[in-house]
Amino acid sequence: MTLQSEILAKVREIPPLSASASELVTLMGREDHDLRSIVRIVECDAALTARVLRVANSPVFGSRGPVSSISRAVSYLGEKTILGVALDVCMGPFLRRPLDGYEGESNALWEHNLRTAIASREVSRFAREPISEDVAFTGGILHDIGKAVLSEFLYGSAGDIIAKIDAGQTADYVSGERELTGLDHSVVGYEMARSWKLASPLPEIIRFHHIPREAAEGVRGMVYAVHLGDIIAMLGGTGTGSDDLKYRQDAAFSDYFQISHTQIERTMLAVEMEFQKTRSSILGREDAAQ
Ligand SMILES: [Fe+2]
Ligand SMILES: [Fe+2]
Repeated sequence: MTLQSEILAKVREIPPLSASASELVTLMGREDHDLRSIVRIVECDAALTARVLRVANSPVFGSRGPVSSISRAVSYLGEKTILGVALDVCMGPFLRRPLDGYEGESNALWEHNLRTAIASREVSRFAREPISEDVAFTGGILHDIGKAVLSEFLYGSAGDIIAKIDAGQTADYVSGERELTGLDHSVVGYEMARSWKLASPLPEIIRFHHIPREAAEGVRGMVYAVHLGDIIAMLGGTGTGSDDLKYRQDAAFSDYFQISHTQIERTMLAVEMEFQKTRSSILGREDAAQ
């Protein structure tokens, strides 16, 4: 078996998303969703309901009356937190695996995906043609998911990839991944999205987040949002490990976004504050920021 088919076999071994998680992701990948549909999905899943109520009643949110209904919890926490909780309930152990192949700590992928999600939502405001902030957030939270599978096939090779990039022999980290394995994390993530049957534009966001100009015209603006969100997360010093900022920036983003350096810097600060808040609320603990 070639390494490439071994990796794809691993993708096929990944457990499917729970029905409620895949419904939530699909729903939030659409522009026209409403809060009631989210409430209905959460209510049909006992584990998710329990966790959402626990989070809504956590001390992070200060003292007030107990939140005992899902509809109150959903409107109180906001749908981004609900999606984060849902993904954490069903993919937590998988998303929290240490990324050894990227020399990343455990939680590095989960935290980088969340930061990218927040940054992608923030930069959406600067798009020349309006794009959905919610879809950008959902795309961001999933964009690097392929690393969870590819990591073990890259074990011990981070130093070599970086040396080649620095010596100008390899263009960027995704090229380094392809040279070693025949695949890269965006392709592996795309295969995962397909096996989870995620709706467009989520698979396209995952597939093209490092080469947005190659995405189909209809989804390109959205892919650029996550491309920029990813860069902003890495500029803040929070990538997934060895591959930090070892990617090329697609300069054509300015065809789709009007954002200045100052605005990028301000966005970085806003993202960091929002990240700490969202992280605490998803984990439902006051000590989550430590
Ligand atoms: Fe990536
Ligand atoms: Fe990333």
